[in-house]
Amino acid sequence: MNLVIFGPPGAGKGTQSKYISEKFDMYQLSTGEFLRKEINEGTLIGKEISSVINEGALVSDQIVSNLIEKVISNTKYQNRIIFDGYPRNLAQAKNLDNLLNKYNQKIKIVLKLSVSLETIKKRISERRSMEKRQDDNEAIAIKRYETYEKTTSPVIEYYKKLNLLKVIDGEKTIDQINKEISDIISSI
Ligand code: AP5
Ligand code: MG
Repeated sequence: MNLVIFGPPGAGKGTQSKYISEKFDMYQLSTGEFLRKEINEGTLIGKEISSVINEGALVSDQIVSNLIEKVISNTKYQNRIIFDGYPRNLAQAKNLDNLLNKYNQKIKIVLKLSVSLETIKKRISERRSMEKRQDDNEAIAIKRYETYEKTTSPVIEYYKKLNLLKVIDGEKTIDQINKEISDIISSI
């Protein structure tokens, strides 16, 4: 099955996706990581998107769509993808449905991790010292959060209407959340 893991910056999307992908033999498709790789490798796309990422804004839908279609179309990953960081606006949510449809797949569940802005700030500042992500300073993190609130969170309504949404308390410990998600996946 394919699933979407949804939530603001620092909610724990990447952390939980990693555990789930290992436990259930799934593939973690993190659009943020794909984009950072383009920047680190100095590709043409990387040069184009670097400033956008440093503003905490969204990269163009077309660039990200091309990246995810490469994974969706690969039969190796068929029906075992965790979408971490996609979709991030309504157009992307519709595009994801279309792409999955094109390759005969579906989203089975959307897990939304809920966390407060206070927790986000704390987690991102802790991660800053470890991972050296260029978009992890406090000012950019706040912009990323604003982009999430304004553009990304409306996508929740879209999935609610489709009856795919499951909200999870992202303030709990990593292990507690992991257990909750594992139970949900096992029960599907
Ligand atoms: P992206 O890389 O997706 O960043 P993000 O959404 O801002 O989220 P993060 O990766 O910061 O947080 P996370 O939820 O993965 O949390 P994590 O597990 O790391 O995107 C970056 C940028 O790329 C965007 O701003 C945009 O410009 C661009 N982009 C990406 N996708 C795009 C798209 N679809 N369209 C257009 N542009 C796109 O956890 C954070 C920290 O907290 C870690 O240190 C972790 O150890 C810790 N932690 C996690 N869970 C817990 C817990 N339960 N308790 C305590 N600590 C915890
Ligand atoms: Mg992440």
